[in-house]
Amino acid sequence: MPSYCLAFSFWGKLVMVIFLKTVLITGATGGIGSELCKVFAQKQYNLLLVGRNEAKLASLKDELQSKCARQIDFLLADLSLPDAGKVIYEETIKRNLKVDVLCNVAGLGVYGDFLNRNLIDHKELLAVNLQAVLELCHYFGNDMRKRKSGKIINIASISAFFPGPYMATYYASKAYILSFSVALAKELKPYGVDVSVVCPGVIPTEFYPKASADLKHSYLLKRMPLENPKTLAKIIYKKAMKNKLIIKNGIINRLLIFLSIFLPLRVKAFIVSWVQRKK
Ligand SMILES: NC(=O)c1ccc[n+]([C@@H]2O[C@H](COP(=O)([O-])OP(=O)(O)OC[C@H]3O[C@@H](n4cnc5c(N)ncnc54)[C@H](OP(=O)(O)O)[C@@H]3O)[C@@H](O)[C@H]2O)c1
Repeated sequence: MPSYCLAFSFWGKLVMVIFLKTVLITGATGGIGSELCKVFAQKQYNLLLVGRNEAKLASLKDELQSKCARQIDFLLADLSLPDAGKVIYEETIKRNLKVDVLCNVAGLGVYGDFLNRNLIDHKELLAVNLQAVLELCHYFGNDMRKRKSGKIINIASISAFFPGPYMATYYASKAYILSFSVALAKELKPYGVDVSVVCPGVIPTEFYPKASADLKHSYLLKRMPLENPKTLAKIIYKKAMKNKLIIKNGIINRLLIFLSIFLPLRVKAFIVSWVQRKK
């Protein structure tokens, strides 16, 4: 039976609900998140797309549904709001959805001198990059631990290994995600729940213009090798399915991460301030 017939028959829907696993992806409307959605959809997963832009979510849902016979839902949520994780979790319970894979992709950067940017921007960054991740891992992690199965994929960054002058809050938030994910992986392993943390380099997405229009003039974007979000999404899927703990890609990124182990924090801060300064 062709997959589109299966999708629209009663039995097809039943099969999708009972047998296919469900992945929840935050940041589904972003450069990396939307590519990850496409990979999971191709790999026989039902999807729950989480984002705050209804039009973008609806169009991604239509695009994915036109290509494959999956159950694809979306959920509107602003992750900067208090208790966003709780609201999302409760909505999945209401919809009777069991989340097998949680992908925390949503995130934002704030570029510029720490003191010159509004405190409110830094706080929003912390709410989305940290608080929402923490809450979602807590709610869905508890269910996964009870079921003794599940997978959590958190997106950190190569910046997790460096202090980051001119993006100090962002770099610190990613260091938190790296450390938190590695620790959580250790705690959840005995319960059959795997945690992976991804440390990409520079991917040309909306992330940079959103962080600040000035960022495109920095040496960072001019010097670092650019990665393709499509390729990155495939790598994330492949390595996460093999339960790889820290997912890195690209020779330069691996080399920088390796070198970062030997450099004192002060030296790393100096290098990043040079690379990230405005041209
Ligand atoms: N691009 C890079 O070079 C790079 C490198 C390393 C790590 N990362 C990490 O990769 C992840 C994805 O980044 P990206 O490059 O794909 O950036 P992006 O295209 O800007 O996507 C970011 C996603 O996060 C969502 N988001 C931001 N604030 C939100 C909020 N308050 N509530 C709900 N959703 C919110 C955005 O939603 P909207 O569409 O509504 O804005 C978007 O879907 C981030 O965690 C980022 O830190 C990126």
